[in-house]
Amino acid sequence: MSILIKNGNIITSSDNIIGDIFIESETISAIGKDLNFEADEIIDATGKMIFPGGIDPHVHLSMPFMGTFSSDTYETGTRAALFGGTTTVIDFILQTQGKSLHSALEDWQSRATGTAVGDYSFHMAVTDFNENTKPEIKQFIEEEGITSFKTFMAYKGALMIDDRQMIGLMEEVKKYGGLINVHATNGDVIDYLVQKNLKEGKTAPLYHYLSQPEVTEAEASERFIDMANYTGCPGYIVHMTCEGALNAVRNATKRNQDIFVETCIQYLLLDASLYENNFEGAKWVMSPPLREKKDQETLWAGINQGLVQVVATDHCPFMWEQKLLGIDDFSKIPNGHPAVENRMELLFSEGVKKDRITLQKFVEVSSTNAAKIFGMFPKKGTISIGSDADLVIFDPNEKHTLSARKHHMNVDYSGYEGWEITGKVKTVFLRGKKAIDNNECFAEKGFGQFIRRNKVQNKI
Ligand code: URP
Ligand code: ZN
Ligand code: ZN
Repeated sequence: MSILIKNGNIITSSDNIIGDIFIESETISAIGKDLNFEADEIIDATGKMIFPGGIDPHVHLSMPFMGTFSSDTYETGTRAALFGGTTTVIDFILQTQGKSLHSALEDWQSRATGTAVGDYSFHMAVTDFNENTKPEIKQFIEEEGITSFKTFMAYKGALMIDDRQMIGLMEEVKKYGGLINVHATNGDVIDYLVQKNLKEGKTAPLYHYLSQPEVTEAEASERFIDMANYTGCPGYIVHMTCEGALNAVRNATKRNQDIFVETCIQYLLLDASLYENNFEGAKWVMSPPLREKKDQETLWAGINQGLVQVVATDHCPFMWEQKLLGIDDFSKIPNGHPAVENRMELLFSEGVKKDRITLQKFVEVSSTNAAKIFGMFPKKGTISIGSDADLVIFDPNEKHTLSARKHHMNVDYSGYEGWEITGKVKTVFLRGKKAIDNNECFAEKGFGQFIRRNKVQNKI
């Protein structure tokens, strides 16, 4: 199958040209002006932008968490991602404490294989680093193509590891060319504040927010950065929300340390006032919580300063009925919010259209940087000859309204209900297949492939 896309405005992290793209089978085989090839299909992209397929390196699909499962499966979650222009996601495997990393891998593979519609990869979350786990790090990097290892400095009693385990894991991961991602908040302090608030009868979602003050994230981020510097292990802080944490990264740059930073679309656009509305605030109960307007400004600035390299989602949806598990106790509200389908359009509308970031930055933080950091570049994350034909044809002027009535995520509310945005995903190619066209999905369940990743580098 060959496809010729004509006269599109091709945008990469470095270029902005009007031209044609020729796809043969799964890959891009030519890019140029007035290409005159025979093709099975010719698409006129005049007036449209063409971006590399989005990469969301932070999603949780069918994840067992807080006594329930996140409500998007690999099928519904990766399909919704495609509708929103994201062609590859990276999900998190969670080790069960006391069990091996490989047994968790098998568990996640059993849910993903033959189910995913879009492409996916895995980070391995290490929740119990010990002498049995240690040799598995090398095996994951060299045999499984899984090169990033997630750690939690919070969720005490379930997922959290201590600094002793963190240092040991960092040494092992560095030795074999991997990277550590971290949920950097101080789990002990949060645990103390949660118990204190509950004891005082403060059970509403607002107290989820008040139990995770900025200092818990700033302190843990700084501690993680110091440990990464000491061991020399590449580090990536997930879902950064606030000024205090970003200042720790800024300080690290003064000693020429590279720390990768991800924020999520919700931390750029939403703020903690949403928790003031009684239990409605449960829709945005996530960890870390939404912050203040001043933090949003810091994060936008951080993107432009090159301190924040990735805008992800931490997509972790729960049905409203699941959120009700915490009606009498905020600490029982499943943490997470849905966004994988909205990320690219929201970032374009609120970022590019409102002159907060350039088109090149948009591509960098929504696709290219994640591909580079996580060892998928240039197969993914760019438009170049030989790359996978993962492409988004985008109308930069179409206005539309976000709503749970229209979205494809398996969740019965939207965090962005009624938002009017500009810019719409029209057609999406995944490895040369027209997966989405005019609000319809043509990729089947099982089309999505597991993407093996290469060793990582400390610089991008
Ligand atoms: O609230 C969140 N973020 N839920 C998913 C788990 C995590 O911490 O990433
Ligand atoms: Zn987290
Ligand atoms: Zn997460």
